[in-house]
Amino acid sequence: MGVKVIIPAAGSGKRMGEDKPKQYISLAGLPLLVHTISTFEKSALVDEIVLVVRKDEVAWVKENILEGNSLRKVKKVVEGGKERQDSVASAIKWLWDTTGENDIVMVHDGARPFLPQNKIHECIHEAQKSGACVLGLKVTETLKMVDGEGMISSTLSSGDIWVAQTPQAFKWPLLKEAYLRAREDRFYGTDEASLVERLPHPIRIIPGVFWNIKITFPEDFQLAEQIIKMGIVS
Ligand code: CTP
Ligand code: MG
Repeated sequence: MGVKVIIPAAGSGKRMGEDKPKQYISLAGLPLLVHTISTFEKSALVDEIVLVVRKDEVAWVKENILEGNSLRKVKKVVEGGKERQDSVASAIKWLWDTTGENDIVMVHDGARPFLPQNKIHECIHEAQKSGACVLGLKVTETLKMVDGEGMISSTLSSGDIWVAQTPQAFKWPLLKEAYLRAREDRFYGTDEASLVERLPHPIRIIPGVFWNIKITFPEDFQLAEQIIKMGIVS
């Protein structure tokens, strides 16, 4: 039984608004993506990484991101697709013949550099037990539904609402099935869990950490530098 990690990093970073995709922008002296991959490189539980990048970046990434930083667990770099789900699907396709029924496959955003080691461990452990586990944070603030005119239409009960993070880990047959079904139904979701939910199959959500942020907007880089300075990143 092994653990494989898919890292989708084939986005173009529209909300960041820089000329190069955010995963290659420097954070504390190293490209954001190097921080993310290093987290799994360090984990004794992870056997292999499949990295997904844009077609025209494959050769550059191999040389500058992987070899240049001695990231040896990345066994394959595959080409991404239009949506995040297409990018993950292309990694799943590559894993198809070499992944076993008892393996765990975990998906983690390339743009989340601060995942703690103990959370990798907890997520894998829970996926081994129950088949599927995602990290998340329980919402503590009051949530409002807002209409097109910026007017509140209702209040949600925040007690039962969580924000999903990555990683999201699954027993391989479950993830495979979820992606096959989504393709058949032309269903697009914004994370892996939403595809597994509709099988249906139960998914455990466990507490992540607030600093496991997804770098999305320019100010997130400033926040990320502050998080590093706080010394909470393992
Ligand atoms: N991603 C991907 N393939 C896509 C789109 C996104 O592999 N077609 C990856 C991104 O590179 C990122 C992760 O999925 O690591 C989460 O996506 P997001 O934060 O939305 O990144 P972008 O799509 O690049 O940003 P934006 O939505 O602002 O354009
Ligand atoms: Mg996106």
